[in-house]
Amino acid sequence: VFSSRIQPGQQANRLSQAVDRLRRAGRPILNLAQSNPTACGLQPDGLLASLQDPAIGRYEADCRGAWRSRLALAGRLGCDPERLFLTASTSEAYSWLFKLLCDPGDAVLVPKPGYPLFDYLAGLENVEARPYRLEYRHPQGWQIDTDQLTAAAAQPRVKAIVLIHPNNPTGSFVSQAERDFILYLASRHGLAIIADEVFLAYPLETREAPLSFATAESGLVFSLNGLSKLLCLPQLKLGWIQLAGDPAVVAEALPRLELIADTYLSVGAAPMHALPQLLPQVEAFTSGLRQRLQANLATVRRIFDQAGSPFRLLRCEGGWTALLEVPRYLPEEELALALLEQAGLLVHPGYFFDCERDGLLALSLIVPPDEFAAGCQRLRAWFDDHGRE
Ligand SMILES: Cc1ncc(COP(=O)(O)O)c(C=O)c1O
Repeated sequence: VFSSRIQPGQQANRLSQAVDRLRRAGRPILNLAQSNPTACGLQPDGLLASLQDPAIGRYEADCRGAWRSRLALAGRLGCDPERLFLTASTSEAYSWLFKLLCDPGDAVLVPKPGYPLFDYLAGLENVEARPYRLEYRHPQGWQIDTDQLTAAAAQPRVKAIVLIHPNNPTGSFVSQAERDFILYLASRHGLAIIADEVFLAYPLETREAPLSFATAESGLVFSLNGLSKLLCLPQLKLGWIQLAGDPAVVAEALPRLELIADTYLSVGAAPMHALPQLLPQVEAFTSGLRQRLQANLATVRRIFDQAGSPFRLLRCEGGWTALLEVPRYLPEEELALALLEQAGLLVHPGYFFDCERDGLLALSLIVPPDEFAAGCQRLRAWFDDHGRE
């Protein structure tokens, strides 16, 4: 009866099973993997007031999203409001773009390590998410394996290159040189570029000033962003797609995307009309959160990354996650389970994100700094104890 897109109920992984068990037993857990900003005390001012706009009472079916909301957004982004589509989330934006670009059985190239939702987002559209490698060199940081990407882009049925700029969890931006190369590669094979820029406002240890792909003037480029990271409002459900590239190709894409958007009309009036009131806060809000991210990154460095330390903090150019290389006393999954059971600490192991190397832990930098520092100290103490055994 059921579609092959969805495999029969997958079991929760061992780590989430253990978390459930400990929570039911009333054991406190310090969550160093907390990526939900609403659980970290992060919220822009005036949220409730922004949801009181009288326009919320009217239903106006504009498939790209309310004009004045797009106008406000276009003013911020410096683009034509006609090139913007509001969506219910960035995840939904992906599903629209996969529908726009791919037939069943087509493929999109996605970075690895990367954000685990892609297999599902693509799979639900009958599209294959094919990984391309990012490799790490210390202390320079992550870079795209361009030989491998070149070979992957030439394969049949590939329709788009997905770039996460900066990537989650590696924190790496696409460099200027990589950007030029990828724009060339995409034009050579007629591929679209989907640039997920949800963390663009959070540069940390960057090599170059971050530049949005929405400035591209060739090919077909979709830049994605939304309120869930920009203003820490995942519960509001508002994202957007900005089209860029060759105007002739963009003009062909617009009516097609309109048809998809018109079929769903999924954006709620409340977040859509709140947008013009919320946008003026972006600078102050993101700069406040950047300070928290910087402070937490400095804490990791202070506690783990001194000369001669068996730990290593990987270069974190931006975003909300730090990757910490730890001594390999145990395989990653066993390590995460031991930290949970013995130290009451929840951390995500690197294999959750398809990291090639073993012994990486992903720490969420949005955790309140006091809690984050306490968690890091406890993590260090656990390793110091086990190193002595
Ligand atoms: C890189 C990246 N893109 C998109 C999303 C999802 O964003 P949204 O809440 O707008 O669907 C996430 C969420 O963690 C993410 O890490």
